[in-house]
Amino acid sequence: MIIAIDGPSGAGKSTVARSVAQELGFACLDTGAMYRAIAWQARENGVALDDGEALGEIARTFPIEFRHFEGDPHPRQVLIGGTDVTDAIRTFEIDKAVSPVSAEPLVREALVEQQRRIGRAGNYVVEGRDIGTVVFPDAEVKVFLTASDEVRAERRVRQNAERGVGSTDYDEVLADLRRRDDYDSSRAASPLRPAEDAVMLDSTELSREEVIAEICALAREKGASATDGGASGEAASQQKA
Ligand code: DC
Repeated sequence: MIIAIDGPSGAGKSTVARSVAQELGFACLDTGAMYRAIAWQARENGVALDDGEALGEIARTFPIEFRHFEGDPHPRQVLIGGTDVTDAIRTFEIDKAVSPVSAEPLVREALVEQQRRIGRAGNYVVEGRDIGTVVFPDAEVKVFLTASDEVRAERRVRQNAERGVGSTDYDEVLADLRRRDDYDSSRAASPLRPAEDAVMLDSTELSREEVIAEICALAREKGASATDGGASGEAASQQKA
């Protein structure tokens, strides 16, 4: 079973996706981290962010892996070409660079193929922007998670402060969220938009627990049970593109 969670930056997709995965025993895939890893590698290789061919080449040749930090049930560690970029992909520079990188069709083509391969290997909660529309249009559960711009910016500031990476300036973070929303929604390749059959959840109005309970209920209606996914960690730690 695939549970697709799409929505704009800062809507709380990652936290919700991890909790749902844990509750149902599913593995979890953060597709935004994959686009971020390609943006990081492009900068590392000195590739111009408007050089679509070179960006596509990076996406096709540098393997992205997710691993578990010891004692963590979620595969939060991100590697590209064997380099740990877990923190490096959360900086403000990457927040900026990732928009043009993710708008490049050759990059999307390469990553979507990897995402499908990973997701088909088991029961997955997959979060991103185009999961319900493009990557898994047949996903059993599709959720589009939103929240007001202000609430999303506040959450992102708190998250950055906790992680010790990224900006903690509210105005700067709010402006960047809006810029990325515009960019993600207006790009030609797989723009951010809800699938026609997605359930819309607004986390401005709902608590995180309510959102998680709602998604788990939707999944159970489709037959998911806590025993479905088995070792979510096991599946996810094998992720290798
Ligand atoms: O979810 P995030 O903020 O980590 O995503 C980083 C960027 O990647 C974001 O600007 C949109 C893009 N993205 C995308 O285009 N498609 C996805 N499936 C996931 C993320």
